[in-house]
Amino acid sequence: MEAKKDWIKDLVIYQIYPRSFQDSNGDGIGDIPGIISRLDHLSDLGINAVWLSPVYRSPNDDNGYDISDYQQIMEEFGSMQDWDQLCLQCHQRGIRVIMDLVVNHSSDEHPWFEMSKSSRSNEKSDYYIWRNPKDGKEPNNWASVFGGSAWEYVPQRGQYYYHLFSKKQPDLNWASPQLREEIFSMMEWWVKKGVDGFRVDAISYLDKPLDFPDSPAPPMPDGYSPSGCLVNGRPGTHGYIREMNRRIFSPFNILTVGEVAAADTEELTRYVATGREEFDMAIPFVPPVVEINEWSPGKLREEIARSYDALKQDGWWARFFSNHDKPRQVSLYGNDQEYWEISAKMLAMLLHFLPGTPFVYQGEEIGMTNISFSSIEDYNDPDAKNTYRQMLLTGASPEEALKQAQMVSRDNARTPMQWDSTPNAGFTTGTPWLGVNPNYRHINVQSQKQDPFSIYHCYKSLIALRKTSPALSRGDLEILEVPEDTLFVLKRSCPEETLFSFHNFSEHPVKIPASLIPDTAQPLLSSYDRQGGYRGDILRPYESVIFRLPAGE
Ligand code: GLC
Ligand code: CA
Repeated sequence: MEAKKDWIKDLVIYQIYPRSFQDSNGDGIGDIPGIISRLDHLSDLGINAVWLSPVYRSPNDDNGYDISDYQQIMEEFGSMQDWDQLCLQCHQRGIRVIMDLVVNHSSDEHPWFEMSKSSRSNEKSDYYIWRNPKDGKEPNNWASVFGGSAWEYVPQRGQYYYHLFSKKQPDLNWASPQLREEIFSMMEWWVKKGVDGFRVDAISYLDKPLDFPDSPAPPMPDGYSPSGCLVNGRPGTHGYIREMNRRIFSPFNILTVGEVAAADTEELTRYVATGREEFDMAIPFVPPVVEINEWSPGKLREEIARSYDALKQDGWWARFFSNHDKPRQVSLYGNDQEYWEISAKMLAMLLHFLPGTPFVYQGEEIGMTNISFSSIEDYNDPDAKNTYRQMLLTGASPEEALKQAQMVSRDNARTPMQWDSTPNAGFTTGTPWLGVNPNYRHINVQSQKQDPFSIYHCYKSLIALRKTSPALSRGDLEILEVPEDTLFVLKRSCPEETLFSFHNFSEHPVKIPASLIPDTAQPLLSSYDRQGGYRGDILRPYESVIFRLPAGE
């Protein structure tokens, strides 16, 4: 692969969900001074980049993914001076700063929208997507991702505007050259303030089919049909991304990660193959319900193989199991009960063994788990509330609807960071905006730091290993053939070094097929380190081991 932006290969990116990271002033809401006060934690872990979920001014209909001013900081999070301080202090520690950029839509409280909706003939009239009523109703049958119609009527204009997400997140009209200029100059302003990159939100939806045909998808219980198949990944969207790349990404040499919905590897590749001049890497978005229902270790292994083949010549991978939209990884892919610690380590060891840039989502490094609130009122996520409503519409009982909401809710990943065993996990001295997971008494940063065999120390070792291991940061990947779908045997190699790994992705012991790796391979890390490490022959439930071949072999 060409060395265009070689530095991205040495990053380990830590995602902060600011609302839930650390509160500094007792209002129960995480904030930027809170993040600054915890930078020692990030330095200790060894990461060298942070991705901040949105910190811009926002009425918080979707926790900051609805921006009302792209050049101001959300009041609850602090001031622009605080942000400058955060950026400076990160840079002093060798930590790069990646901002979340939400430009598929803005908030309906953005001044652009306030002007746009005021009449059909103002200077920002075409900054959003407006359509006349059809037979006195919405222009088509499209559903919003968060429930109900994707169209909202505005009497002043006598028209509907389109919103893929909530009605407080009107979609920006990328077909307007003036709008695009506004976005690019805003991006340039941030880059000049010192940001090192952008994670670009929901970017596969920019271009819309302007005739807005009805969606053929079966309707949701509330009567509207999902429209993803019609708005996702259109050629026009790739054109806008390339324009963004030409205008901002390339001239300023920043890191770019696109969040995209992609049906398969081929579609994903269109956003990240180097020759496409779009993004450096992509985060594929899969709705939690699909992931929960369809996930399996075998599928994961296939996906790793496919995306590796697709991009090994001219691309790069974002590696993540968690983010603010997904269930907690140890609860979803591992076992958050009996094998909590071992499976959390196994997942970390697998992810950090793969080629690409590893992402660590806050709390993952201490094995934070899903939450089950006992009432729908305790949930904040609009997606969970929509799931609940739609279930009730199908005739489900409130208990069944709650169960489904608990399972899919993005709040699983958004409960406050668990720092210590003091009340509210050390996150706040006030009332937290979202309930703290009661398991904070035993799952917290402080206790994990003290315990040399903790999940936290496993992450530290993995991150440190990557820094000194050319095979991990640059080497080729080989997925060795084994009979079991749940056993991963991987090899990473480069001229200087060869590593192997085993990952038993199940609760059952598995026999290691003979002579898979040379006898001389030395175990470096094990998910069973507390129990004395690798024993050979049979891998225990969720056992994971990383080996290195002695130099010269
Ligand atoms: C992305 C974000 C998600 C948000 C949505 C709308 O998928 O990750 O949190 O709700 O876009 O901005
Ligand atoms: Ca606060």
